[in-house]
Amino acid sequence: MKMETRQFFAANWKMHKGPRATTEFVERFKKLHRPRSEARVVFFPPSISVGAFRDGVRDRPDIEVGVQDVHAERDGAHTGAISAPMAREAGATWALVGHSERRREFADDDAAVAAKTSAIMAAGMFPILCVGETLEEREAGDLEAVLARQLRAVLEAIDPEQRQGLTYAYEPVWAIGTGRTASPDDATEAHRIVRREIVASGGSESCIVLYGGSVKPGNIQDLLCGEGVDGVLVGGASLDPEGFAAICAAG
Ligand code: PGA
Repeated sequence: MKMETRQFFAANWKMHKGPRATTEFVERFKKLHRPRSEARVVFFPPSISVGAFRDGVRDRPDIEVGVQDVHAERDGAHTGAISAPMAREAGATWALVGHSERRREFADDDAAVAAKTSAIMAAGMFPILCVGETLEEREAGDLEAVLARQLRAVLEAIDPEQRQGLTYAYEPVWAIGTGRTASPDDATEAHRIVRREIVASGGSESCIVLYGGSVKPGNIQDLLCGEGVDGVLVGGASLDPEGFAAICAAG
């Protein structure tokens, strides 16, 4: 049985909004989105804007903040990187890990994703582990194998007690930023595979699994109806306060 009954709405801003634009967004969003006991709302601004975000939501404990990536080490000679303890100190309580853009542009492989997941949990933050197949992998019939490989690489590498604390996002790479969304049936099917692999690798049956990939106000209702879809991870449509507030009002 699931412990968490709230719908989960996560906003991945990617490389958008510096501190000033972040503050403006937060002020507007707070007016549009009133606290809802049925909704959990977490934003992932660029790490340079986490402090501004944190300051903006001091009066709104229902709005949480995280980072989009961390380095696996605590500190060291890694120019340009930030560590999980630093992100935690800046006010982040969540961290994305394994996003397909990190895997593709920054060569984060399965081993790196596993090491980062451990580091996030060791720092006392909650990771959202992102998995998903490319169009070529889907068309080659490799959906199950890809999801199984990405999930096992992390679940088998981390401590058994850490496995219980993971949240997941299924994001088909072909649906990210393309305007193409998985049909509710495709999402349900992929979420079924993700959940089966999580349990087979020692993860929790009652874990949260989000859907991501071109989620917008116009398709949120249909996607949330998908069996096993516990919420959404939203990129482009989360940059607009009105649009994201409309998404958070769904479900
Ligand atoms: P998108 O991005 O909503 O712009 O497709 C989703 C994501 O990459 O998390």
